[in-house]
Amino acid sequence: MKTLRLNLKHKTVPVEIENGLFEKAAQRIKELFGERKVMLVTDSNVGHVYAKKLFEQLNDLNIETGMYTVPAGESSKSHDQLLNLYDAFARFRLTRTDIVTAVGGGVTGDLAGYAASTWLRGTNLVHIPTSLIAMVDSSIGGKTAVNLPHGKNLVGSFYHPEIILIDPLLLETLPGRYFFDGIAEVIKYGLISDKNLFEMLESLENRENIMEHIEDIIFRCCDIKRSVVEQDETESGLRMILNFGHTFGHAIEKVFGYEKYTHGEAVSIGMVYISELSERLGFCSAELPKRIRSVLSRYGLPVDFPEMDNNAVIDAVLIDKKSRTNDINLVMIEEPGKVFIKRFPKEQIRRMVHENRYS
Ligand SMILES: NC(=O)c1ccc[n+]([C@@H]2O[C@H](COP(=O)([O-])OP(=O)(O)OC[C@H]3O[C@@H](n4cnc5c(N)ncnc54)[C@H](O)[C@@H]3O)[C@@H](O)[C@H]2O)c1
Repeated sequence: MKTLRLNLKHKTVPVEIENGLFEKAAQRIKELFGERKVMLVTDSNVGHVYAKKLFEQLNDLNIETGMYTVPAGESSKSHDQLLNLYDAFARFRLTRTDIVTAVGGGVTGDLAGYAASTWLRGTNLVHIPTSLIAMVDSSIGGKTAVNLPHGKNLVGSFYHPEIILIDPLLLETLPGRYFFDGIAEVIKYGLISDKNLFEMLESLENRENIMEHIEDIIFRCCDIKRSVVEQDETESGLRMILNFGHTFGHAIEKVFGYEKYTHGEAVSIGMVYISELSERLGFCSAELPKRIRSVLSRYGLPVDFPEMDNNAVIDAVLIDKKSRTNDINLVMIEEPGKVFIKRFPKEQIRRMVHENRYS
């Protein structure tokens, strides 16, 4: 087993990564919390495969267990589902010393995390991520959220789990589109901080190859996120590097109504765009954007900016919630594993999009 320890100011979160770990999850929960009640939160795709199994295993260990299943999909990160969840917690008489366990992708983790952070002003939380995005990104770092009609992730909290249990073999049932969605984030980690990881992804060919190295790949990504989060728990500075490719990615997701592109697909296009911009501004070689394009294309990820109205892109970029005052921070790249934050006046972004987007 590979174990990381996320050392935060007020607590330490173990992150355990091992093929087959899911089989021991009930036992691990019992070791940590004794026979306290467990409320499983899952979604309609994952629930009947994994959460149901965990439910039975916990019951076999004499742990009183409840389960609440939300419909699969982003629309479940809503206040409606949040209220349903509180209702289920109340009927289960969930106390602060009991445990909410999220079994699912980023949607389940974000929703269950927010519910756990607010229920009785904070109850214990365990993450058992089942998608690649959740394993390498959303389960670590403490960001929880629900969406509003006004935008994604507008209501949320920073709330860390007691433990994160990652079984990479759960990815075997993850549909291909979501698997490669996660691979875009893995490539991002290589680009921002781990040249060897980037080169590994360049040398692999397909999902089967990746799965042969998946434990190591997930460990490296989690370790990068651990290190960044430890240095910047509340996303006030360095943590911004995790948004490499995300500013233009978010703009694409937004303009297409979050339907045409998954998050990872939009970030893939955003990473190519920003590396080409880095090259135009003289920060990296002409070869680097080509390598980034090539590795993303290999895994079937989109790399070209779709036909979009320039002004719609600019509007989406400039109202991105990470923009500050009259400037906007973009993460630029020098070489694989080396990025930096550069502040641009909004006016310059407008000009760059108009002048360079299709060049
Ligand atoms: N909190 C954070 O720091 C953070 C970071 C990144 C993303 N996110 C959030 O995460 C969400 C995206 O995450 P996601 O892609 O995991 O979304 P998701 O939870 O919707 O999962 C994607 C799909 O895969 C299915 N699935 C998950 N695991 C499976 C498995 N093992 N087998 C079969 N099907 C499986 C789900 O049912 C769903 O249909 C977004 O809401 C995003 O905002 C949060």
